[in-house]
Amino acid sequence: MLRDLFRVKPVQAAPHVDAGEPVEGSLEGEVQLKRTLTARHLVLLGLGAVIGAGIFVLTGQAAANHAGPAIMLSFVIAGIACALAGLCYAEFAALLPVSGSAYSYSYATLGEFVAWFIGWCLVLEYLFASSTVAVGWSGYLVSFLTSTLGIPFPAELAGAPIAWENGGFVRTANMFNLPAVVIVAAVSGLCYVGITQSAFVNGIVVAIKVTVIAAFLGVGIFYVDPANWTPFIPENTGPGQFGMEGVFRAATVVFFAYIGFDAVSTAAGEAKNPQRDMPIGILGSLALCTVIYIAVCAVLTGMTPFTELNTAKPVATALEPYAELAWLKTAVEIGAIAGLSSVILVMLMAQPRIFYTMARDGLLPKVFGRVHPKHHTPYVGTIIVGIAACLLAGLMPLSVLGELVSMGTLIAFATVCLGVLVLRRTRPELHRPFRVPAASIICPLGFLACMFLFFQSFLEHWHLFTAWTVVGLLIYFLYGRRNSKLNTR
Ligand code: ALA
Repeated sequence: MLRDLFRVKPVQAAPHVDAGEPVEGSLEGEVQLKRTLTARHLVLLGLGAVIGAGIFVLTGQAAANHAGPAIMLSFVIAGIACALAGLCYAEFAALLPVSGSAYSYSYATLGEFVAWFIGWCLVLEYLFASSTVAVGWSGYLVSFLTSTLGIPFPAELAGAPIAWENGGFVRTANMFNLPAVVIVAAVSGLCYVGITQSAFVNGIVVAIKVTVIAAFLGVGIFYVDPANWTPFIPENTGPGQFGMEGVFRAATVVFFAYIGFDAVSTAAGEAKNPQRDMPIGILGSLALCTVIYIAVCAVLTGMTPFTELNTAKPVATALEPYAELAWLKTAVEIGAIAGLSSVILVMLMAQPRIFYTMARDGLLPKVFGRVHPKHHTPYVGTIIVGIAACLLAGLMPLSVLGELVSMGTLIAFATVCLGVLVLRRTRPELHRPFRVPAASIICPLGFLACMFLFFQSFLEHWHLFTAWTVVGLLIYFLYGRRNSKLNTR
């Protein structure tokens, strides 16, 4: 029994792969996905996945409630944790260009049980994140319709029927979040049709949101009043509120803003030249985002006192006092709506591919491994994920979804950091096109940084995370362990 839990999937470094060629070491099946993505596609995929609700929605709230202008510092802290984990992802993604991300990496290093647990945590990351961002998208859309265009929208159809208060769920006056459901359904349709089209649409949307952010920075900088930056770290007023403690608490909140750069690695099975392009895709998109985030925070908190940023659309809120910038506010709203859509797209593209890999390994039912004969996409998984994401987006509040996403992602990141060290020891001979520099320092540091941020959230939401884990364990022991391809009995 114990041996079963720690069985690892045999791994071989992939040789050079061209479009359509089989990938050695990926086990069977990978060839069914088309290899069409280049380095440029991958960086765009990263930006598409990363810049979203974190910067457009959560930044203002984190500044107002936890960090003040020092939100910039929180972004640096969260960015460091992500960069450490990102280096580890890059080593794995170049070595094993297969679908499945942290799940596949753990299967090759830490054994089936850990792999299952990570796969289950990745559901929190991708499936739940798509719903979280859809809820943020709905907030921007409704505000754009009602305040900018003057078109009324029924409030009870724009929010979750439940909210999280004082450690429990309470009923709200809302029925469900209709716009969030509609956007998830529409994007799922796009994912069903195929990755090439999806990557193309993603490229356009990324261009729109980056342009809007650049305009916000270019114009906003002239409205910055440096007095708004003092005190840089406001005095502590309670647990997690301001002071250095608040800066760390805010780091866990804005960690959400970085989530998604690893989604690039889940497209490894569809990359033309994964050995060269995966590290470029992952680290390139992460570096670009970090610079953009810090700049946005500086302008945001410089234009408006941080206490006024606790809204559902803080970037637009910062522009509201300036009548002459109404055009920019409208552009920001449209850019946010477009930007959040591309995040939903990448998340909804990644999740079925992880299920696909798990199904090929026998840990999930075979239907998740079916590939569409014409579109070459894991279409059954895409439909199932789409339905689940619609339900979550329609019924769950943003704060709870966001916390679960961060916790699941941090556990996956921490595991990948450990996995790199384990594989270096167990398979030192494998050719690694990209190597984590000073791995014996970087990997443990990455692990500790991720676990530190995880516990900030876990202390408050441990019951939700534990319940999720228990459900995952039940599925593994009742289904996965018996049906695993590695099961020799
Ligand atoms: N990083 C993504 C966002 O901020 C998940 O929306």
